[in-house]
Formats: sequence, C-alpha cells, structure tokens
Amino acid sequence: MLEGRNTNFDAIVRMSGQPAQRIRFALDELGKRRLIGSAGENYTLYTSALDLLALKHYADRDYAMALGKLIAKGKESDVYEVLSPKSELFALKLFRLGRTSFRDVKRKRSTSTFDSISWVTSNYKAARHEFAALQMLRKLTENVPTAVDRDRHTVLLHELPGVRLSQRPELEDPEEILSSILQTAREAYMVAKMINGDLSEYNILTDGRRAWLIDWPQWVGPTHPNAGELLRRDVFTVLRFFVRAYGVKVDDERALKYVRGEVDSLKVRRGRSSTRGSG
Ligand SMILES: Nc1ncnc2c1ncn2[C@@H]1O[C@H](COP(=O)(O)OP(=O)(O)OP(=O)(O)O)[C@@H](O)[C@H]1O
Ligand SMILES: [Mg+2]
Repeated sequence: MLEGRNTNFDAIVRMSGQPAQRIRFALDELGKRRLIGSAGENYTLYTSALDLLALKHYADRDYAMALGKLIAKGKESDVYEVLSPKSELFALKLFRLGRTSFRDVKRKRSTSTFDSISWVTSNYKAARHEFAALQMLRKLTENVPTAVDRDRHTVLLHELPGVRLSQRPELEDPEEILSSILQTAREAYMVAKMINGDLSEYNILTDGRRAWLIDWPQWVGPTHPNAGELLRRDVFTVLRFFVRAYGVKVDDERALKYVRGEVDSLKVRRGRSSTRGSG
C-alpha cells in the first residue's frame, strides 16, 4: 500500500503479487486492528501502521528489541523509550505534526488523499530535517543528542539522562551551564550555519552538570528571512529563563553578539546566591 495515498484494491493485489482472496483477508484483518482505513475499494494506512513499519525498520537493524515507556507526549511528537538487543536505551521520536486535524479526518471516516499525503509529507520531512541537523551538529558538539537512524516519520536518538531545564533542577554550576548552552548555539550558528528556532527551557535537557540542546526539526539557516529574529528569540528566551530560575545574568546584546561570533567571550554574572530555581 502506498504511504499517504489511497490505494485501490486492484493496485494492492498487483503490487503484492498475491492472490486477491488472500489480500482481501489481510486487509480485513488490518482494518480490524485499526491499522488501515477504507472508503469503498480504496485503502489508506493509518499513523499506527506507519509507526509499526518504523518499529520493524529499527528491529530489522537490531536497534530495537522492546518498546518501553512513553517518555513524553508533545504537540508535535510522541517520544518512547526503546531497548536494543545490546541493552542500549534509545529515545524514539515519532512526529505527530497536525495531530489534531489528522484525527478529525479519521473520525469522519474519510480517507481524504490530500490530508494523508500532506501528513506524510510534513512528518517525513520533519524527521529527515531533524536527523540531518543532528548528524551535522554532533560533529561539532556533544551537547546535542546522537541521532542513530531515521525511518519514515521517526528518528531514533540515544536516550539522554536528566530532565527538561523548565523543571528547574538543581544545577552544579548554573553559570557554566548557561555558557555551554550559548557556546553550543554559537557553534551551531557559526560552523553548521544553523539556528534552532525553538530554543527554550523546554528544549534543553540537563542532568545538573551538562546540558543538551534538543528538538531541531524547525531549524533554519542564516539566510532565512526571519533568521535574525529567530536567533535573537532563541538567545533571549534562554537568558530570561536563567535570570528567573537561577539568578544568572548576561548582557543580552553581548550574548547575541557572542552567539553570532562578533565577540569571543561572555561575561556571566551571578545575580543571587541560590543555585536552585525558586519555582
Ligand atoms: N534523546 C532524548 N533522550 C531523552 N528524552 C528525550 C530525548 N529527546 C526528546 N526527549 C523527551 O521528549 C520530549 C519531547 O521531545 P522534543 O522536544 O524533541 O519534541 P517536541 O515535538 O518538541 O515535543 P513538545 O511538543 O513537547 O515540545 C523532550 O522534552 C524530552 O522530555
Ligand atoms: Mg520540544
């Protein structure tokens, strides 16, 4: 069956090379498991089927042996823990862009070709975009997740320890962590020519000693029409959070210049003595 497209019964039989009766049975079974939908003789794969195909891809490559807990359910993705046969832990990010509107399509029992094509296009593209970004970034810095593989609307990452910075965990050295975040943004910008575009305390993970910048599918290059504004927002969002949560202050404009490579050092100041967020 074609991903994101309605596929006619006769075409499925032709593509499979199997007897029509057998295909009819298989389609009925897949329908009962809510993996495919149909409108007359046209069939379409649901997201759940694409999820399974991606899992099969990772299992076939010996990356996945068991699916673990749901780590996070966001607006734009679901992230599951995955265990490999070598007992490595991965984070499997399944893109869910347009989740709500696609659900509506399903609820109305329509198999609108346009909607599922655009779902496949945007989610597959997000996965490709994030995978390519992480591969590039990982050559420059260890402060981003390692992307192991990708398939369809998913990317497989090494699971990182820690929590989101938004939870305001105790940090060993908040100034040092802020410096390392800005330095990572600087390397991304100056060397990889990448601006995250959605950087915030929600897209930074930390174990208290190190910080990782995650969530890159929306990255843009410096020639993007909004590049300047996006970089400024990324930097200022992080700075505002560090003042609020840890009392750590850097001059805004200087930090922006630092990330752009216009100055070579930062002056990080401690505003108050606590190393802990005050909630
Ligand atoms: N490599 C990883 N290791 C551990 N946890 C991860 C990893 N990548 C993502 N997560 C978890 O999944 C959450 C969502 O990931 P991410 O920010 O990449 O997706 P998102 O689509 O932006 O989700 P949201 O809509 O919640 O922002 C993260 O906040 C984090 O808790
Ligand atoms: Mg996120």
